[in-house]
Amino acid sequence: MTQFDQSMQFRAPDAHHETAAASPWVQRFSALIRDGGEVLDFACGSGRHARWLAQHGCRVEAVDRNADALRALSGIERVRVTQADLEAGDWIYAGRQFDAVVVTNYLFRPRFEALLDTVRHGGVLIYETFMHGNAQFGRPSSPDFLLAPGELLQRCMNGWQVVAFEQGIVSVPRPAAIQRICAVRGTDAAMTLP
Ligand SMILES: C[S@@+](CC[C@H](N)C(=O)[O-])C[C@H]1O[C@@H](n2cnc3c(N)ncnc32)[C@H](O)[C@@H]1O
Repeated sequence: MTQFDQSMQFRAPDAHHETAAASPWVQRFSALIRDGGEVLDFACGSGRHARWLAQHGCRVEAVDRNADALRALSGIERVRVTQADLEAGDWIYAGRQFDAVVVTNYLFRPRFEALLDTVRHGGVLIYETFMHGNAQFGRPSSPDFLLAPGELLQRCMNGWQVVAFEQGIVSVPRPAAIQRICAVRGTDAAMTLP
């Protein structure tokens, strides 16, 4: 298990203290999503990102298996809610692609490649979740739920332009070891950095 020393600590400049707030990483890189684009908020929970993205003009498909959590999203303009088990049964996004896919605090490796395929050419992947080293802070602590060092970068090595990648220890919204990436599908996309 990788441990990080103090020199690797960083703090998002505009980080929020409530976990209900949209992640600053998602907010920042959502600027790369085309106006009015269709976004998949994957394993959305109660939909902090679906809500934020819809408020900023995106059309959002918010999917999770937890019906109670999804109830918080009912009736929100531009948000379509889907309840599904994303780890069992048929892959419900076969043949579907989005202008952006947002994943936070969730990892299920067996469907990682299928998930990447839901990003259309020129579309944006915004991913942020826990990584090895997080066990010292609490859960998740199982390797199944923790990214390996550099894993998101490795997974976007071919066919993606990596716009930004970070890994290390954060102090807000609570101490955690996290990894995050923003990548655009295709190697010929020209973009203005947010
Ligand atoms: C830690 S929460 C993250 C929620 C949201 N992405 C966020 O960051 O606020 C993890 C979410 O994954 C969902 N989840 C876990 N296993 C799932 C599965 N097999 N199918 C669909 N959703 C699942 C849970 O219901 C939960 O809402």
